[in-house]
Order: sequence, then structure tokens, then C-alpha cells
Amino acid sequence: MYLSISLLPILLLLVNTVAAATETTCNGYDELCNRRYSNITYVGAHDSPFIGSARNSSMTNQDWAVAEQLDHGARMLQGQIHAQTDSSLHLCHTNCFLHDGGALLAYLDSVKRWLDEHPRQVVTLLFTNSDGVDVERVAEPFRQSGLLDMAYVPSDSNRNSWPTLSTLIENNTRVVIFMDYHANTSKVPAILDEFDYIWEDAFNAVDASWPCQVDRGDGEKGMYLHNHYLDKQKSLLGTQYFTPDIDQLPTTNAATGEGSLGDGIQGCTAKHGHPPTFVLVDYESHGNGSVYHAAAVANGLNYHNPGTIHPPKAANEETNSSSSTSTISISTAGSLIGLLVVLIITI
Ligand SMILES: *[C@@H]1O[C@H](CO)[C@@H](O)[C@H](O)[C@H]1NC(C)=O
Ligand SMILES: *[C@@H]1O[C@H](CO)[C@@H](O)[C@H](O)[C@H]1NC(C)=O
Ligand SMILES: *[C@@H]1O[C@H](CO)[C@@H](O)[C@H](O)[C@H]1NC(C)=O
Ligand SMILES: *[C@@H]1O[C@H](CO)[C@@H](O)[C@H](O)[C@H]1NC(C)=O
Ligand SMILES: *[C@@H]1O[C@H](CO)[C@@H](O)[C@H](O)[C@H]1NC(C)=O
Ligand SMILES: *[C@@H]1O[C@H](CO)[C@@H](O)[C@H](O)[C@H]1NC(C)=O
Repeated sequence: MYLSISLLPILLLLVNTVAAATETTCNGYDELCNRRYSNITYVGAHDSPFIGSARNSSMTNQDWAVAEQLDHGARMLQGQIHAQTDSSLHLCHTNCFLHDGGALLAYLDSVKRWLDEHPRQVVTLLFTNSDGVDVERVAEPFRQSGLLDMAYVPSDSNRNSWPTLSTLIENNTRVVIFMDYHANTSKVPAILDEFDYIWEDAFNAVDASWPCQVDRGDGEKGMYLHNHYLDKQKSLLGTQYFTPDIDQLPTTNAATGEGSLGDGIQGCTAKHGHPPTFVLVDYESHGNGSVYHAAAVANGLNYHNPGTIHPPKAANEETNSSSSTSTISISTAGSLIGLLVVLIITI
């Protein structure tokens, strides 16, 4: 009797250990373990740090904070690095006057925490750097968060040189970091120059024809990124700007049907011989997993909805950014005032 009670914790520990040791899936699927990193279609959250209800703001692109985006299935996180606020780098939408999505370090800390909690997941980060921030300065928060040490550094840019997901997992090199401009791998080897590896089709699409043509980068590069988010073009004082086309989300994020992500991937595949490696979407949780379903189909897998995908936020719900400490919350009206400020400054 005594014996069995004292053995119970040990037994439970044993069960847990065995469960952890026998967890063999890679990014949630057994079938992905022996596939090269470059031979998988990943869903990416476009403008992942800009969080708020889809119904609320013209400056947000996702409903849920980055940890929840990862929980739902996003395996690429895209964002914009800017150096316009204080001394630290922030993730801002076009300009920090318009929308400040918080400090880069706080964001990277959440990603690192999530990766530590999910030891069999590989995640790609893609940042734009339109301010031309020196890569050494960009590297600092990556180093502080611990992500730089976890980053995989390829030896060449050949699509067929990438290791399999299980190798990346076993070596704990579970994050791949790309930056669009001003990378310099002689200075910081782990921040890869996006266009050495990837080409992209056009962003800011305003019609759902999804032609999947080379727009940025070299079409000969093996991996490519399909920007699958639909915008509305608006005009303020003669200046054009783009905001997510919320009304079209049920179609844009659907797994099948005309204009859907599934349809976009099929069109890309027909044109380029293989599916895109990355597909970027707005409001990844809209569709209750439909974007992840579309990627699973592209990967030849049966999609299982985990049943834990958060529903879209109501417009009056409180916003929780991944890095709420330094977030300036701006409503649509605020954004427009910000845009005016920016226009005046730019003029
Ligand atoms: C991965 O490889 C398989 C088998 O060659 C191919 O059918 C598929 O299109 C590839 N997927 C990607 C994203 O490259
Ligand atoms: C929507 O806007 C209202 C009013 O500005 C604000 O209180 C609320 O937090 C916002 N909700 C989201 C999800 O952004
Ligand atoms: C994985 O780690 C082993 C042992 O450190 C190393 O020899 C190998 O090159 C690594 N593989 C990759 C793809 O990084
Ligand atoms: C990259 O860094 C190296 C080493 O510091 C430097 O010599 C080179 O000029 C840099 N390249 C660019 C394009 O800035
Ligand atoms: C999303 O799909 C899952 C699995 O089919 C289901 O259990 C869940 O209730 C759905 N959630 C919503 C909000 O529709
Ligand atoms: C926002 O964060 C607070 C504190 O972490 C939490 O209590 C609250 O439930 C969160 N709200 C939403 C909508 O996620």
C-alpha cells in the first residue's frame, strides 16, 4: 500500500518521459520528418506583430498574438523592423507613427519561449528592413533572446542542400531567419539574405487572380513565397495606401474554391512545378484552420484541425499584443492622423 503510493510519482514521471521520448512528429506530422526543410509548404502570418480585431483597425493584420499564431499552426512569422522610436528596434507598420507593434526583443522572446515549449517544431522568421538598419544592430535582440544560437546556417543556397526537419530538430537548429534587405552573412551568418534563397510574387494584391509571377528576387531560386492576402486600395489626400480586404477573408483564406488559398497554391504549382515553400496570409485564424488545411493538402497530408484555433476577435475585444509593454494602440482614426503626420513629415 505504502509502496504503491510512493511509487506513483515515479510512475507518472516515467510515463511522461516515455511520452516525450516517443514523440516523433516533426512540425506536427510524422510524414514531415524526412522531408527537406525546403520541400515543405509552410503557412506564414503576414505582418504577425500587428494585432487587433480585423473589424477594428486599418493597421492590423492578425487577430492573435504570435504565440497563438504558432499554436494555430503558423510556421513562418513575417514582420517589419524599424528604427524610428527609441534606441531599441521596434516592429512597426510602415512607420512607427502609424502603428507600433512593440519591441523586437519582446517579440523574439515570445517566439523563443514557444520554441522551448515545443521542442519538435521548426519556425522561419522573415523580416523586412526598409530603414536599412545595420545587421549587427538587428542581430543584438536575436542574440539576447537566444534565437541567434538556435538559428540554422546553411552552407550554400541550393534548394536541395537543406537538411530534413528531423535533422534540424535533433541539432536544435530550429529557427531559420531571413531578412529582405541589408543582410550581410560575413558579419552575421545566421541572418540570411532572403533573396539568396527565395523569390516572392507581388504583395498588396487587390484582385484575387493570384498570378504567382516573380516580383522580387531571382526566379531561378528554388524556394518561393506566395503572398496570399488581399488588400483594398484606399486614398487619403491623394496618397494611396492598402488595408486588408476584410470582407473577402472568408474566400481568401478558404482551403478550396475560386480565389482561395488552396486555389492560389494550385495555380502556383501548375506554373512553377512545385508548391510555394511559404504562403503568407492575413488573419490566419479566420477560417478555423482553413489556411493550415490548404498547406496540408499541398504537403500531401491529411489535415487534422486541433480544435483549439481561436475564433476571430470581436471589434470590442481587448487587444493583447505579444509585447504589450510598448504597444501604442491606435484606432482607425488614430492611424489616419498618424498617416497625415507621416505625409507632412515626408513632404
Ligand atoms: C516536395 O517534394 C515532392 C516530391 O518530389 C514534390 O511532389 C513536392 O511538390 C515538393 N514540395 C515542395 C513544397 O517543394
Ligand atoms: C477596438 O477599438 C476599441 C476602441 O478604440 C478598443 O477599445 C478595442 O481595444 C479595440 N479592439 C481590438 C481588438 O483592437
Ligand atoms: C548536426 O549536428 C552534427 C553534430 O554536431 C553535425 O555534424 C552536423 O553537421 C549537423 N547537421 C546539420 C545539417 O547542421
Ligand atoms: C559585409 O561585411 C563585410 C565584413 O564586415 C564587409 O567587408 C562588406 O563590405 C559588407 N558587405 C556589404 C554589402 O555591406
Ligand atoms: C473549428 O473546427 C474544429 C474541428 O472541426 C471544431 O472542433 C471547432 O468547434 C471549430 N471552431 C469553430 C469556432 O468553428
Ligand atoms: C489579455 O492579457 C491579460 C493579461 O495577460 C489577460 O488577463 C486577458 O485575458 C487577455 N485578453 C485577451 C483578449 O486575450
